[in-house]
Amino acid sequence: MSKKYILALDQGTTSSRSVIVDELGEIIAIEQQEFRQIFPKSGWIEHDALEILETQLTTLKKVVTAAKINVKDIVGLGITNQRETTVVWNKTTGKPIYNAIVWQDKRTADFCKELKKRELEEYVKKNTGLVIDSYFSATKIHWVLENVAGAKEEAKKDNLLFGTIDTWLVWNLTNNNVHVTDYSNASRTMLFDIKNLCWDDNLCSELNIPKSMLPKVKPSSHHFGDFEYEGHTIPIAGIAGDQQAALFGQACFKKGNAKNTYGTGCFLLMNTGTEIQYSKNGLLTTIAWGLNDKVYYALEGSVFVAGSAIQWLRDGLEIIKSAEESELFAEEVNEENPVIVVPAFAGLGAPYWDMYARGAIFGLTRDTGKSHLIKATLQSLAYQTKDLLIAMEHDAETQLTALKVDGGACANNVLMQFQADILNTSVERPKNTETTVMGAAYLAGICVGLWKQEDIEIDKKIDKEFKPSFSKEKRNRLYKKWLKAVERSKDWLD
Ligand code: G3P
Repeated sequence: MSKKYILALDQGTTSSRSVIVDELGEIIAIEQQEFRQIFPKSGWIEHDALEILETQLTTLKKVVTAAKINVKDIVGLGITNQRETTVVWNKTTGKPIYNAIVWQDKRTADFCKELKKRELEEYVKKNTGLVIDSYFSATKIHWVLENVAGAKEEAKKDNLLFGTIDTWLVWNLTNNNVHVTDYSNASRTMLFDIKNLCWDDNLCSELNIPKSMLPKVKPSSHHFGDFEYEGHTIPIAGIAGDQQAALFGQACFKKGNAKNTYGTGCFLLMNTGTEIQYSKNGLLTTIAWGLNDKVYYALEGSVFVAGSAIQWLRDGLEIIKSAEESELFAEEVNEENPVIVVPAFAGLGAPYWDMYARGAIFGLTRDTGKSHLIKATLQSLAYQTKDLLIAMEHDAETQLTALKVDGGACANNVLMQFQADILNTSVERPKNTETTVMGAAYLAGICVGLWKQEDIEIDKKIDKEFKPSFSKEKRNRLYKKWLKAVERSKDWLD
């Protein structure tokens, strides 16, 4: 009997990736392609939705070829994606009417301020689990309708569709037939009622968004539609936002299980089970996934700039040639680093939620060199994670015994050691760090009957455990400096 495979797509903020996973849960081929980041104005970030589609399809074709498998043996397709990023397209032509507005984009900050003045904060929190912020899709859709010529009229005539990136991909993979998303992605729009699992009428009308634009919402492990490829039908059987997919991929199935992903941003999620838990400490309540007729929730701490700060060192300041090189420079700073970088390039996310904060560097002296700056940028990822972990431990009224990590920057040993030191908690880096795409593969594999949830054991082997070594005095002294620096970077544009 021939082997069976899952094709999983990971459409991230900076690249599109495709993988083939065999029935033992091993990745046998992987392809990746970067695409353009478009910065039309300060604080604005866009993607070309057609380029996203093209790069995703290119990697898909390449990975199937590289895996040297028969397409008929691909039994399911899973999708995971950068969340919140907003695409609006014409239903008939299938063409986007504007670039995709990326989750980090800040153009709607003033409109969010107006929504707060309308005293919607409590309502938004209670119904969507979120805070009012330009991060989420709702105000981005509103912006497109208000600012693209003719958009409002076309929307009223029922000619426009909205989607997060998963929806956009499924629409195209199904030949413009299926307009759908999953609970985890819907819960990032600021329009979805996470308790009653439906679009929120009040919020749609507050923001003048016709409900006819919004996709149908389904569980994360579900037969969403079919992808016809080389004469074969592949069921699209799993969808989850990338951070929720990583939580699933790390097998954080039980209440209290948590993971931290160091991607473009940094996202700490804790499974809170089937009950909604609201944060008192600036975290978000979000849907983790819908599976087997149940909906699971999570508390989330989202930091907007993490890996992208290392990208800034490479592409903006051009002081490193590769992300890996940052580790070598950071190792050169043996003494305590007096420099602090607050990478609030896109405002501050959890737990501060300040859309008007901007990046800042503190502690410069005449002998500050680029190694200090590089190390401080790496350390900012760890400090931001500490902010999140403190909030999460307060909300969950429990202490994490170890932090499970994944994402690109977790390969950096200097960062991981500092993370353990500043948290005073062990940091566990798994051998298989491809947890995001594995989450999407698992959700699809469960739907098509390839795996059962209880059988899913990711390769739990730990690659390395980083143990804390700082004294309490040192840890507290450094963290106090960070907090002071954060305070000073707040409200910069206000
Ligand atoms: O909420 C934004 C997040 O989904 C982006 O993830 O991995 O593309 O940085 P990533």
